[in-house]
Amino acid sequence: MAIRIDKENKIFYLETPNTSYIIGIYKDKYPLHMYYGKKIKTMPRIENMMRIGWRGFFGREEIDGELICPEFLPQEYPTYGAPDLRNPAFHAIYPDGSCIGDFRYDGYMVEQGKPKLSGLPATYVEHEDEADTLYIYLKDSVTGVRIALCYTAFNTVDAIARSVRIENGGNAEVDVRSALSMSVDIEGADFEFMHLDGSWARERHVVKTALTTGNFGIDSKRGASGHAQNPFVALLGKDANEMQGEVYGFNLVYSGNFTAQVYVDEMDYSRVQLGINPFNFSWKLAPGESFQTPECVMVYSDAGIGKMSRTFHSLYRTRLVRGKYRDIERPVLLNNWEATYFDFTEAQILEIAKKAKSVGVELMVLDDGWFGARNNSKCGLGDWFVNTQKLPDGIVGLAKKIEAMGMKFGLWFEPEMISPDSDLYRAHPDWCIHVPGRGRSVARNQCVLDLTRAQVRDYVLSFMRKHLTEAAISYVKWDMNRNITEPYSVSLAPEKQGEFSHRYMLAVYEILEKLTTEFPDVLFEGCSGGGGRFDAGMLHYFPQYWTSDDSDAIERLYIQHGTSMVYPFSTMGAHVSAVPNHQVGRVTPIETRGDVALPGQFGFELDLNKLTDEEIESVKAQIVRYKKLGAILHQGDLYRLASPFEERHCAWAFESEDKNTIVLIQCTVTGRPHSNTYRLKLPMAQTDAVYTADDGTVYHGDYLANCGLQFVDSKDFVSKVMVFEKQ
Ligand code: DGJ
Repeated sequence: MAIRIDKENKIFYLETPNTSYIIGIYKDKYPLHMYYGKKIKTMPRIENMMRIGWRGFFGREEIDGELICPEFLPQEYPTYGAPDLRNPAFHAIYPDGSCIGDFRYDGYMVEQGKPKLSGLPATYVEHEDEADTLYIYLKDSVTGVRIALCYTAFNTVDAIARSVRIENGGNAEVDVRSALSMSVDIEGADFEFMHLDGSWARERHVVKTALTTGNFGIDSKRGASGHAQNPFVALLGKDANEMQGEVYGFNLVYSGNFTAQVYVDEMDYSRVQLGINPFNFSWKLAPGESFQTPECVMVYSDAGIGKMSRTFHSLYRTRLVRGKYRDIERPVLLNNWEATYFDFTEAQILEIAKKAKSVGVELMVLDDGWFGARNNSKCGLGDWFVNTQKLPDGIVGLAKKIEAMGMKFGLWFEPEMISPDSDLYRAHPDWCIHVPGRGRSVARNQCVLDLTRAQVRDYVLSFMRKHLTEAAISYVKWDMNRNITEPYSVSLAPEKQGEFSHRYMLAVYEILEKLTTEFPDVLFEGCSGGGGRFDAGMLHYFPQYWTSDDSDAIERLYIQHGTSMVYPFSTMGAHVSAVPNHQVGRVTPIETRGDVALPGQFGFELDLNKLTDEEIESVKAQIVRYKKLGAILHQGDLYRLASPFEERHCAWAFESEDKNTIVLIQCTVTGRPHSNTYRLKLPMAQTDAVYTADDGTVYHGDYLANCGLQFVDSKDFVSKVMVFEKQ
């Protein structure tokens, strides 16, 4: 059982294999955060949790004849104003216009397993004994509003999932202005705040900032998690780094507007909170209705950032990602986007496919430009009927021809969008997101469909079902190339417009749930101008995601390194593309492009007919190697040995599940004349074992682990892959 309860003292112990998360009920009212860290068996009495200090300015509340000061307490789910004045996790406006709720502990429940979150992506269990779930109930007796705090402790992985359900058990409508997924007051303030920052083609770069008192946060108001900030933060304890130290990681399983913030208060608590962004959010909760927040996954590591990442990876690749492709190796693909952009004919695609087949590619993907009048990005989105000038035999015919070559066929869609210059827009100008009487901003010349409307959702489902049923489509690339401006729906009442952005995400999830259920054999890859919505929410539907529109090998070192803080390499689409690279103009060797793409979901983004014979031989070898090592790279454990954000090079090592094989990938970013040697230690090497490298050299494990292999940063962009087999 992952949950133990000291009923007498009302203390709840959530236990994962190596960690404890402990909550106690204080004065029969407040759930307090007592501890999160390495496993401990018992906690002292809850009275010890109160901070000591001068209370003059802080609101006090009388409970059982004693004046207590909630601002001196580490709270599990704080509400505002009565009388804690720090950042609340829950904030609502009640019928009398007040925002004060007096939430008191109202019991608990424990169940085996993990419940599904209605309409939302979440981690899951396959067997009930994999996890236990605790609900702690809070109730405001004046309004009848109840808050259910839900905690799932996993039995096989050191992760805890939290979410919250708000229920209106009263008889008047309540306006929920903020309902975060989690809040935790961690003792102490001496932390670094780590997050993943970026932009289009530069996603998820690692940034660390020392915390001081005040608010630190990242967020999105873009209608998607976005390129700029990812719904992930970690607090790094003093001296924590990749290999050592205490790290607390938090990741929201959500793809829309989010907040992820830390408030360091004057009592030296660091209040970490993640959830739907309260900005422009309001949810009218009628009597009897409830609101479910997204899930937040928490991971504690006592051995640095690396261990935190490995925990997220193991949970996400087995219990977030779903479907047929979760556990099997996926096909090596070639996508024509950077080979042709919009300018292609069927004959050209078949030429590209033929060459791809000859080197070992298994899946030919046709990207944007196959439908309507879509010859550039200015028009056509929404007109999902084939352009027979380009493809005379349609998608059905092209798919048949590709299959006849012995490959699978995949197709690009951007289902959430509509171009103002499209037949769909001319027929339904009101279907796009807009505020009547005001302008409609375009981005990449397109608007977003208002998927909160059932009729619009039905349209999207109907054309997707039609294509997936008619043609032999084995793979879908689901793209989304802009964020949402003018958030508003003509179908929602004025007082419900604050619900729009979350309702949009619920609509996307509903469509994806239906399609992935109806077409279980189709491999779905997510995309949003590259990695603009690469988040845990999307990975519940898409087992892989196009990591970035930047396909340059060196830029990809940074992007993939940052992405791997939370998301496993098995979820990252990674392709070899042409040089000079189309995004940054850099020229890197074909071997380096292959080595850097190797650990991801491997593929190509170029016309292989344009390569030299020598390069083609290299490509063939890359595919053979990938087929051999893919399972180790995708199911094994990642150790980041060198960060391109801190060194002149990058290095990742993967340990196979059976611990018999280690794969090392190293790449120099910029060479340095003289004094350019360094060592890479393989911490997972077994010190009493002997390994044979793929070049035949024999190494003792203690040498690999303690002394390390020597490398030289002599030339820019030179990479190396080494495989070590235990004898
Ligand atoms: C953005 C994607 O990230 C690209 O890979 C490509 O699919 C284009 N959209 C097509 O418009």
